[in-house]
Amino acid sequence: HRLVVLVSGTGSNLAALLDAHDDPAFGARVVGVVSDRAGVAALDRAREAGVPTAVVALRDFPDRDAWDRALTEAVAVFSPDTVVLAGFMKLVGAPFLARFGGRTVNTHPALLPSFPGAHGVRDALAYGVKVTGCSVIVVDAGVDDGPVVAQEAVAVADDDDESSLHERIKVVERRLLVDVVGRIARDGLTVDGRRARLGRPAA
Ligand code: GRF
Repeated sequence: HRLVVLVSGTGSNLAALLDAHDDPAFGARVVGVVSDRAGVAALDRAREAGVPTAVVALRDFPDRDAWDRALTEAVAVFSPDTVVLAGFMKLVGAPFLARFGGRTVNTHPALLPSFPGAHGVRDALAYGVKVTGCSVIVVDAGVDDGPVVAQEAVAVADDDDESSLHERIKVVERRLLVDVVGRIARDGLTVDGRRARLGRPAA
């Protein structure tokens, strides 16, 4: 099962997938990493693991649609079965979803539908919730509102700040993402309207 991972930053979720893919029981391999930013740590991690990389930066294209088409092509080169958005900070558009919709998942550091968007941890803290967590979702045209595949809760501590809470969420998030992606590779992913579940559709 071929995975392409989209990144924008540190790449700790990517690193967890790269660690897992050496185990044949995992059932999937990261065959390509695509970033929308040059020079990020995630690209170094991919190179260290011997995985090919590509950078498709929005500013190198005349408009968002041209960028999205180039991104789609860059991903398609690797012939993925599943695309994983792991800390990818841009929304994918219609051309991308036409090609990879239904088999693209994203990891988000909050319990969706609460706190979507780029600041899920900060927003949860500001709201004052006592429990937050992480979500793996199927990517659709909205902002973090695709069908939920899996979630796990993380308690908010009284003395948390954004960084301490995010670090605790990321520990859980990496484990959840690796678990979900491995299960998609081995057992498939079924999406029925808003309901997503691991496993193949009933015959
Ligand atoms: C993750 O918490 C992801 O959900 C969020 O940004 C973080 C990316 O971390 N959107 P990394 O680049 O995988 O280390």
